[in-house]
Amino acid sequence: MKYKSPRGTRDIFGETALGLSLLEQKAKEIFIRHGFEEVRTPIFEDAALFTRSIGQTTDIVEKEMYVFEDRKGRKLALRPEGTVSLARAFIEHRMDISSPAGKFFYSGEMFRYERPQAGRYRQFRQIGAEIYANSSPAADAEIIILAQDVLSSFGIDKINIHINSLGCEKCRPLFREALVNYFSSVEDLCQDCVRRLERNPLRLLDCKVDSCKFTDFPKISNYRCSDCKDNFDTVRLLLKKANCNFTVNDKLVRGLDYYTRTVFEVRSDAVVSQDALAAGGRYDNLVKEIGGQNTPAVGFALGAERVFLAAQSAGFFENFKSPENFFVAIADQELFGEAFAFAVKATRDGINGNKDISVFGPINGKSLTNQLKFADKIQAAKTIVFAKTEFENGKVLVKNMKDKTQIEVELNNL
Ligand code: HAM
Repeated sequence: MKYKSPRGTRDIFGETALGLSLLEQKAKEIFIRHGFEEVRTPIFEDAALFTRSIGQTTDIVEKEMYVFEDRKGRKLALRPEGTVSLARAFIEHRMDISSPAGKFFYSGEMFRYERPQAGRYRQFRQIGAEIYANSSPAADAEIIILAQDVLSSFGIDKINIHINSLGCEKCRPLFREALVNYFSSVEDLCQDCVRRLERNPLRLLDCKVDSCKFTDFPKISNYRCSDCKDNFDTVRLLLKKANCNFTVNDKLVRGLDYYTRTVFEVRSDAVVSQDALAAGGRYDNLVKEIGGQNTPAVGFALGAERVFLAAQSAGFFENFKSPENFFVAIADQELFGEAFAFAVKATRDGINGNKDISVFGPINGKSLTNQLKFADKIQAAKTIVFAKTEFENGKVLVKNMKDKTQIEVELNNL
């Protein structure tokens, strides 16, 4: 084969395609029930939009963005995530002024140049939801509970919700300083950590290489200001009241710089990779930073491919069988038009009231034997044969393709 799909991408068909559609459909139903409105943004944006908001020193911006120039030399990037695009759209359509409070959801392809592995791709789908202009900790709790509910609706109940609060512009600089002091005394930091120490010391906490070396690191809980402390206490209280189990993880810092206060990740034992199924948090400064009015916001996104794997291992798709295939065949070529009209009607109305079927055929100019071979290939449950003698009596032959038995049935009864 000369051409293959690019590394980290894949062609999706069969059960996986059906499963992913089902996940998306179910998530949409839940979002709509919770009052979220769908937004679709372009797959590419001005590259600077992401660089500015996700952060110059994040993995996404430094290593993972697909950046290209168009024919007029504009620097564009395939979106690595959905939150920033939504914020750009929110401002562009003046919603920060006209109707700032809003709940939005999106689903679509995202692109990151990452090392591919199970559940990690360079083109993947996210399904996300964001609440705008709501600074109440109740909105943080609502988003975390929503993420849990969406996963639970896919049969994924064995999850661990990790939460943390990264503080605000008042208290985070103090924490940052303490981290720089601490990390400066740690020996043998990896190259990434050395580079980030000055510009983004929080990111060292979840470094895959060095993180286990950091034992007595400064804890954000000792640096939060009283507002941030109260806020985080309320988020936890509300989660507890709603029976939502979580773990406070003071190493959780997330890979995007726009977060303020609450951040969270939903992890599962069911997926082979250690990566999260869903993640999110509060980002009160993002809209303002990219040119809008001051609009606090909070949201999350799940990775559809990872959630698909977790739902599959939870047995979720076993209840959803694909429709049975029916094949319409002709024993006599002159019945092609009749058989065709029957296939059209059966596709529209179902057979015997059963609409959960897929109808194939008829095929013109092939012997009945070849048509039946085709019916076997598509694993048809039944083949309906239009044959001259039976048809003249208002009947067709219905062949059970498993046991090869055949009965005559009144055409009107189908
Ligand atoms: P994120 O943690 O970068 O957050 O991604 C969210 C989810 O997308 C991850 O938990 C994971 O399930 C999925 N994901 C990320 N990268 C890949 C990949 N390479 N292959 C497959 N799945 C992947 C965000 O993107 C934020 N925008 C979430 C958010 C929304 N925060 C606030 N609102």
